[in-house]
Amino acid sequence: MIKTISWNEGAVVMIDQRALPHEERYITCRTYQDVIAAINTMAIRGAPAVGIAAAMGIALGTLNAPEGQIETDFYRICEDFARTRPTAVNLFWAIDRMKTRFEGELVSAPHVEAEEIKKALTEEALRILEEDIEANRQMGAHGKDLIQDGDTILTHCNAGALATGGYGTALGVIRAAHEEGKRIHVLVDETRPLLQGARLTAWEMHREGIGATLITDSMAGSLMQRGMVNLVLVGADRIAANGDTANKIGTYSLAVLAKENRVPLYVAAPLSTIDRRTRTGREIPIEERSEDEVLGFHGTRIAPQGFHACNPAFDVTPKKYITAIITEKGIITKPFGRKIKGIFGDSAGYRPRSGPKTS
Ligand code: MRU
Repeated sequence: MIKTISWNEGAVVMIDQRALPHEERYITCRTYQDVIAAINTMAIRGAPAVGIAAAMGIALGTLNAPEGQIETDFYRICEDFARTRPTAVNLFWAIDRMKTRFEGELVSAPHVEAEEIKKALTEEALRILEEDIEANRQMGAHGKDLIQDGDTILTHCNAGALATGGYGTALGVIRAAHEEGKRIHVLVDETRPLLQGARLTAWEMHREGIGATLITDSMAGSLMQRGMVNLVLVGADRIAANGDTANKIGTYSLAVLAKENRVPLYVAAPLSTIDRRTRTGREIPIEERSEDEVLGFHGTRIAPQGFHACNPAFDVTPKKYITAIITEKGIITKPFGRKIKGIFGDSAGYRPRSGPKTS
């Protein structure tokens, strides 16, 4: 199994996704600032993986906090992580989980030893990792039935083991169908500008022996029009309460093309990606990354000097283009708003506080 991120004797170890597919190297983060740098530079990326990294980073930072300073350090570290990437809600969800645990420890025993708090935070971060892997397996079990023997599935970006604690969301569903013996083929969108499809999804599919072909993003519509795609399957960075979904830039175009060509589009995401505080997609903050990612690649400039680019990292697919949402609790069909409410029960325990300001 691909080990995206792990906790190793007071350090956070992660596969360096910037080096893939050419080199499989690991980085060891010994401070929480190392973890923040790994998130900012995309050494680790993908909504659930960023959430797990933040949880481990918070545990790591608190572990290194001097006696008497744990509480102030803890909240400052949480704030620092909250400033890393604004779109994927799993980050804020994970920070909230850590806060809930931290406050729970203090409330349950006001004079609790610092060591106990540190232990509890490490435990919570590891629990988040384990729960994510389990959720992905459940998504696979639910979602695999949407894939028929002989299907060709188009996917965008990387929603695989590398984007999660392991196994993957969209790629987890694909893995589950493959493990069941279904003969499937995957069309991998290269996913400009950072090529998460070409570099990461292609690497995962190749390793697993799942038949796959790389395409440029602009080929998708034509392949759908020619009847060569049975379904589109993507991950998500944030799903609003009404079902509108933010995912890697290019997903919206795929969704419109899928509807035009009567190809179903499924989103696979854990419940930690559903943000019930965000009512519609219009409220989802979209990360704008450096124009350098578009103007060049791997240090080589591809546009004329002095030329500028824009670089929104995500887009929002309105709910009307989404056929269903695959979660660990089952498949959510329309109307999403009502069914999302239902899947959370009454909203028990859902009180996120760390999200970035939305309009
Ligand atoms: O900018 P990235 O690489 O973090 O974007 C990742 C995506 O958009 C994924 O599709 C999404 O996080 C789902 S991952 C299970």
